[in-house]
Amino acid sequence: MSDKILIIGASGQIGSELALRLRELHGNENVIASDIKEGSEELMTSGPFEIMDATDGDGIANLIEKYSITDVYLMAAMLSATAEKMPMKAWNLNMDSLFIILNLAKEKKIKKVFWPSSIAVFGPSTPRQDTPQTTIMEPTTVYGISKQTGERWCEYFFNKFGVDVRSMRYPGIISYKTLPGGGTTDYAIEIFHEALRSGKYTSFLNEETALPMMYMKDAIKATIDIMNEPAENVKVRSSYNLSAMSFTPKELAEAIKKEIPEFEIDYKPDFRQAIADSWPSSIDDSAARADWNWEHEYDLKKLTQAMLEGLKESFSLENK
Ligand SMILES: NC(=O)c1ccc[n+]([C@@H]2O[C@H](COP(=O)([O-])OP(=O)(O)OC[C@H]3O[C@@H](n4cnc5c(N)ncnc54)[C@H](O)[C@@H]3O)[C@@H](O)[C@H]2O)c1
Repeated sequence: MSDKILIIGASGQIGSELALRLRELHGNENVIASDIKEGSEELMTSGPFEIMDATDGDGIANLIEKYSITDVYLMAAMLSATAEKMPMKAWNLNMDSLFIILNLAKEKKIKKVFWPSSIAVFGPSTPRQDTPQTTIMEPTTVYGISKQTGERWCEYFFNKFGVDVRSMRYPGIISYKTLPGGGTTDYAIEIFHEALRSGKYTSFLNEETALPMMYMKDAIKATIDIMNEPAENVKVRSSYNLSAMSFTPKELAEAIKKEIPEFEIDYKPDFRQAIADSWPSSIDDSAARADWNWEHEYDLKKLTQAMLEGLKESFSLENK
């Protein structure tokens, strides 16, 4: 029997591109996209789409039965910056949705689960540079606490019940197709929009804040690769460190200036600065590279060119 995939949170920044790529690979009818809100027209018309609340256990179980789902990608979550404004709501969404899926996998209703963690699992006491796979983790944000707790539960369900759950700690994901969902690395997307629209940008992080980042295409590749890997190769069952590049707002502005010389940036740090200051500046992902041959393709230069080209194309489509 071929894989039947359910993506929960498919209208979001990562879920929407993941769904379209999985549809290319597995056939449109075999990838069911679901979210609490509608997604892009392309997402909603290219294959099955269901409005569903990720915290509705019965509703999710019914969807899984209705479509004979084998694999679930649980992308619904409340992200770092938004979660600081609504701590309990973030905690409930991030944890309840995970327990629903882990328990359905425990009951053998699904075979494989993908659940993304984040660099937010680390905190101020973590070594900031080349943060190791296994290290001190004392997250200080609601989001980070929920992701770290989620990692512990994933590993527990794997060890105790043999649940085949796979995970990676995404860095800031940069893309142009769908707007970001309220994270601390959103500046690295907004900056490209503003570079093209107004030629200037005010960064909400200061110029020296180095954070780990990744172009969307690499993130999607990593996600699909880990799910395709034989189970015995996925040795880390909490969550893998994953890395491509690290840069500061200043370095990103300089990369943009190489393409748009008149671009200007200034800095007005807000509450997100404290979140960024608690996170690593670079990540050691040698375990992912060794266990399932992870390799990134996009560096800062390639990312900058891809973002500017992609956005120019979508702006010109908008204006037609
Ligand atoms: N984007 C990043 O840079 C980044 C970095 C690290 C980790 N992650 C993780 O990756 C996953 C996807 O992130 P994203 O950037 O696509 O987020 P996003 O905010 O863009 O998308 C999340 C989606 O979940 C949906 N959602 C929210 N509440 C829901 C509910 N109750 N039921 C069903 N759907 C609901 C939203 O409508 C949205 O479409 C999340 O787990 C996030 O924590 C993202």
